[in-house]
Amino acid sequence: MIFNAFVMNTGSHIQHGLWRHPQARQHEFDDIRLWIDMAKTLEAGLFDAIFFADVVGLYGPVDGDYAINAREGLQIPINDPSIVLAALATHTEHLGLALTSSVLQVHPFEFARRASTLDHISSGRLAWNIVTSTQENAARNFGLDRLTEHDERYVWAEEYADVVYKLWEGSWDDAALLKDKVRGIFSDHRGIHKIHHIGKRYRVEGPHLSAPSPQRTPLLFQAGSSSAGAQFAARHAEAQFISAPHLQAAIDLTSRTRAMIRANGRSDADVKFLQSFAFVIGSTEEEARRKEAELESYISVDGFLAASNLGVSQDTGEPYPADTLLADIRTNGAQSHIEWLRKMQPEREPTIGDLALLVARRHPRLVGTPETIATQLAQWQQAGVDGVNLINWLLPGTYEEFNAYLLPELQKRGLAKREYRRGTLREKLFGRSRLPDSHPAAHYRGFFSTPRATDAATDPAG
Ligand SMILES: Cc1cc2nc3c(=O)[nH]c(=O)nc-3n(C[C@H](O)[C@H](O)[C@H](O)COP(=O)(O)O)c2cc1C
Repeated sequence: MIFNAFVMNTGSHIQHGLWRHPQARQHEFDDIRLWIDMAKTLEAGLFDAIFFADVVGLYGPVDGDYAINAREGLQIPINDPSIVLAALATHTEHLGLALTSSVLQVHPFEFARRASTLDHISSGRLAWNIVTSTQENAARNFGLDRLTEHDERYVWAEEYADVVYKLWEGSWDDAALLKDKVRGIFSDHRGIHKIHHIGKRYRVEGPHLSAPSPQRTPLLFQAGSSSAGAQFAARHAEAQFISAPHLQAAIDLTSRTRAMIRANGRSDADVKFLQSFAFVIGSTEEEARRKEAELESYISVDGFLAASNLGVSQDTGEPYPADTLLADIRTNGAQSHIEWLRKMQPEREPTIGDLALLVARRHPRLVGTPETIATQLAQWQQAGVDGVNLINWLLPGTYEEFNAYLLPELQKRGLAKREYRRGTLREKLFGRSRLPDSHPAAHYRGFFSTPRATDAATDPAG
């Protein structure tokens, strides 16, 4: 299976409240040495990637206060993961470096260059988690009056992806960068193309300012599971993050999405499904349960409710009464969250009052001995899940425990690799460095190379 470490450059990412645990070091998130040590730990544990989530605004309703966010360290303060990944690239050799970047936060021309630079300095280990941002505050931080409507955000993401694909895949021919000292030709302009993108939101002339990086397009991650989100993922993602509450939900979601992938002319084998899990490992079942109770005692319900973005009315900024049915909540945020809550409690429509308890268990938790956890993971693999997005309780303790206790058992059962494959991140996961021809980005290969009068006019050697 594939193993990702799911992290964020902040004090409280998912398991809100846990930063207060005596062994937690997540409060040291702004010390790069924590991340460098973590990255080395992850490489020792043969993790495929360190995956940095990111947000560019506060959770909560329009004009709501942020007292809870501040008190809980709830994704504020938070630093820019692209810069942290640049540091990690220079201290690791195999670990994939996954960056979340929203279409909201950076112009695609600039993002394309940042990504190419990271892919260059990591020798082809960059992945991009494509997100559209679900926070009202994020929208206001970037000049909008309010969050763009849910499905329209994916239309936006389509154009954004189109621009960066043109730059990554189409702007430079493979042979354009010559570095020929004898003839004095650094690169051949005839192989470097403007893209002349004109769309609803963007006008980008090009050419791309970076020469092709080892993967050209970074490995593409996506996590939407609403209807529009899953369609987007089926078109673009090479790895889709899922948070299925149980095995049957994973079977349903992966088989439904795989059908959509095929409908998009792509192959099943071109997309991996990574399921979020939190593990609690003990040498006996009792010890694991004891550890779980101890970890849970640090959970902050306030933090979970604030992060769910649902507990307060978008319109009034006031908390919903506890008996409000989820069906009566209007949200422009993440719809998959509501769907997930319904599946967790199928007997009746959940209420706001049910929320706090449910969200604290949003990500499936595997609690037990290395043997029982490995058995369960094998079942998830049977259900169509290709990998694990490992949520931490404690940084770096969660990953150290994984290496020490779970990895040997997983290796014994053939569920985890024993060594890294060579090459770029895409090569390690799919056996090729470049996207397959069936991916929409591949459409732009050679697309701009057709000689035009202006391009063909002069030979670079004069
Ligand atoms: C494992 C996982 C990681 C995610 N990471 C981020 C993130 O870092 N930043 C972000 O803005 N959204 C993140 N999301 C949210 C998704 O990008 C998406 O907005 C959300 O799942 C709702 O999409 P939907 O309404 O199409 O289901 C993540 C979702 C999941 C399941």
